[in-house]
Amino acid sequence: MSVISEVKQRIDLVEFVSQYVTLQKTGRNFKGLCPFHSEKTPSFFVFPEQQTWHCFGACGTGGDVFSFLMRKENVDFSQALHILAERAGVALSSPERVVGNEDREKDELFQINELAAEYYHHLLLNALEGEEARNYLTRREVARETVEEFRLGFSPDAREGLKKYLRDKGYEAKDLVKAGLAVERKDGSIGDRFFNRLMFPICGARGKVTGFGARALGNALPKYINSPYTAVFDKSSNLYGIDRAISAIREKNSVVIVEGYMDALLLHQHGWKNVVAAMGTSLTEKQVAIIKKLTKHVFLALDADVAGEEAVLRGMEVISRSGDRKMVPIPVSSGLVKCESVLDAEIRVVALPQGKDPDEVIREGPRLWQNLVEQALPLLDFAIDTVLSKLDIGKAADKSWAIQKLLPLLQEVKDPLRRAQYVQKLAKRLKVSEAILLSYIKKSETVRGKRKDDEAMGQQFSHHLASSAIEEYCLALLFQYPELRQLSQDLAPEYFQHIENRELFVQWQRFPDISRLESQLDDSLSEHLYYLLHRSFPPPICQSNKERQIVLRDCILRLQEGLFRVLEREGVRSGQQLQEIFIQRARGIMK
Ligand code: UTP
Ligand code: MN
Repeated sequence: MSVISEVKQRIDLVEFVSQYVTLQKTGRNFKGLCPFHSEKTPSFFVFPEQQTWHCFGACGTGGDVFSFLMRKENVDFSQALHILAERAGVALSSPERVVGNEDREKDELFQINELAAEYYHHLLLNALEGEEARNYLTRREVARETVEEFRLGFSPDAREGLKKYLRDKGYEAKDLVKAGLAVERKDGSIGDRFFNRLMFPICGARGKVTGFGARALGNALPKYINSPYTAVFDKSSNLYGIDRAISAIREKNSVVIVEGYMDALLLHQHGWKNVVAAMGTSLTEKQVAIIKKLTKHVFLALDADVAGEEAVLRGMEVISRSGDRKMVPIPVSSGLVKCESVLDAEIRVVALPQGKDPDEVIREGPRLWQNLVEQALPLLDFAIDTVLSKLDIGKAADKSWAIQKLLPLLQEVKDPLRRAQYVQKLAKRLKVSEAILLSYIKKSETVRGKRKDDEAMGQQFSHHLASSAIEEYCLALLFQYPELRQLSQDLAPEYFQHIENRELFVQWQRFPDISRLESQLDDSLSEHLYYLLHRSFPPPICQSNKERQIVLRDCILRLQEGLFRVLEREGVRSGQQLQEIFIQRARGIMK
């Protein structure tokens, strides 16, 4: 993994941006007042799944954690890299690490977290000031046994309560900072990170406390604050409740993945012990690795609001890929179904009633929840439903668009019987003959077949829907085939969500000559450039300029599409309007 991606993987953008901007949750995303221009209504958004931000107001720009810092602190890329690498604890050069020391440090962090969990738990159960938190839990119908089982806690409004408690146990304030439980204030003093919040200890599979989630009792924002990245905590590689759920997951040979802490709690309370929470972000590679060892039967109940269906699909893309946690802003792709084979798992989607979290569903009626789980659709059926629900099947253009979207999914189904079933089903739903559908499949298979000549490339192709992969594909084409430059007029830096790609694109616009470009770049970027210059392409692309143009246009379209979806999700433009632009463009490409 490159230094840049390692840094990005370790820094949570929402947390990072929160240092500068007061963020408010909206659907799966966050919004706030743009820090780059003055405004009264928030038009600045952070998208946790993609780890990107965008200002839909005057700036009209966006990017990742690097571009945020570059703008905010007015530093260049390499300065930003230094700052962020230090923050993320990623070494830019490679100093030897003393393993023994590292282990000792981790043990100490576990001990501190354990003591903190005890402290918070004790206060919730006994302290006078814990009253409000106890009432809150009663209102949410969380039973005393659940509070005890999950060791819920309360952090008092005393800004140094935990610091004092742990000092008496022999820990210094700086140890607390390392554990993520305290923060250094502007004046250099150190105070508790969490106060006046309901505390959820987050444990590893063996029950060691690695960090905390902390919920505001009222409507204070942000609703949750979580431990920052520490030597023992990385939210994206934990599943909340895994320690309580692990034996039930094995026993039942299935897991239910929900989104929130509260959902996991309430489901456990109602006897659903095989439930874990992904804690708001889409599933990450590391989370999947945990599950993969335990069971192959996965139920996803990830989101209740409008963005939910998409989120589920996006989450799936992560399952399907290996390596990074960058999200894919394209709703449906072959990755979706492929993941079932990668995981060698059966994945079903629990479709929640609009606007409802599992915690509400289970409280309203345990039967209702039971039914929803029983009716959970296999991934592919769910994907088909989702795509079809967005289109007017009476229109030919819409039909062919749906086929384009779903075809790659069907192609991933390796079992011929199962595949035939889906072809039949889809033909019926689209009101087209199976023969037509099969001819589409055949056509695209011949293209694919040719591409398979180059095995490595085949792999790249199957991943080519990942946003970073599209960005890279696009740049590799442009850099390797200078005659394509003309087409790059349709591109803008904003289309590149990943800083290494965006930087390269911007620099390349200035220095079209590759060797000139190379001499301008920072070390970490020239490594990336080198990679792009040596990326191989399948024979049709190598041989034909026409093919290259088609593929490049397709890449550009997909990058635009990624941005559109972001716009659409936030209702920045009407969905109808976007749909039209979208279909128009798609038609242009299909021709
Ligand atoms: P939800 O907003 O659905 O939270 O976010 P919830 O757990 O259902 O909480 P209630 O029901 O409103 O009390 C889902 C998860 O996303 C993460 C948390 O892990 C949360 O459980 N999240 C959400 C954050 O980390 N920070 C936030 O500000 C919001
Ligand atoms: Mn909820």
